Amino acid sequence: MMRILILHGPNLNLLGTREPEVYGRHTLDDINQALTKLAEPHQTKLRFVQSNHEGALIDAIHEARTWADGILINPGAFTHTSYALRDAIAAVSLPAVEVHLSNVAAREAFRHKSVITAVCIGQISGFGWRSYLLGLQALFDTLAS
Ligand code: DQA
Repeated sequence: MMRILILHGPNLNLLGTREPEVYGRHTLDDINQALTKLAEPHQTKLRFVQSNHEGALIDAIHEARTWADGILINPGAFTHTSYALRDAIAAVSLPAVEVHLSNVAAREAFRHKSVITAVCIGQISGFGWRSYLLGLQALFDTLAS
């Protein structure tokens, strides 16, 4: 039985109504349900955490050290700013995949830089809610190889 932490950063609780032309109309709950479905045949248990607080996200990453095999994370705007979040991922040395709904490279310049990607296996960006599914699949494939 594998266990994966699904971590959603700030403002992602508003998905569905938040700038739907950028982030789509799926709610966070829709996305979590789609991830649960994908995980089923992989005998994997997912734990979902969403927080608007940097420290709470860091605490969840530290806790994952004791129970998780990997982390799927959409760090929201902390992607571009949070050395603390980056250090937390590096500290627990769990395989992590970074995902974004929008294509961050095609948006404002401040979104072009991620301080998180370097401590992840890789980043998936621009496929809307499907970025999460692609990210989880990538994590499964990596853990299995
Ligand atoms: C995001 C992209 C970030 O730049 C932004 O701050 C978000 C969402 C995405 O999923 O596209 O909150 O991570």
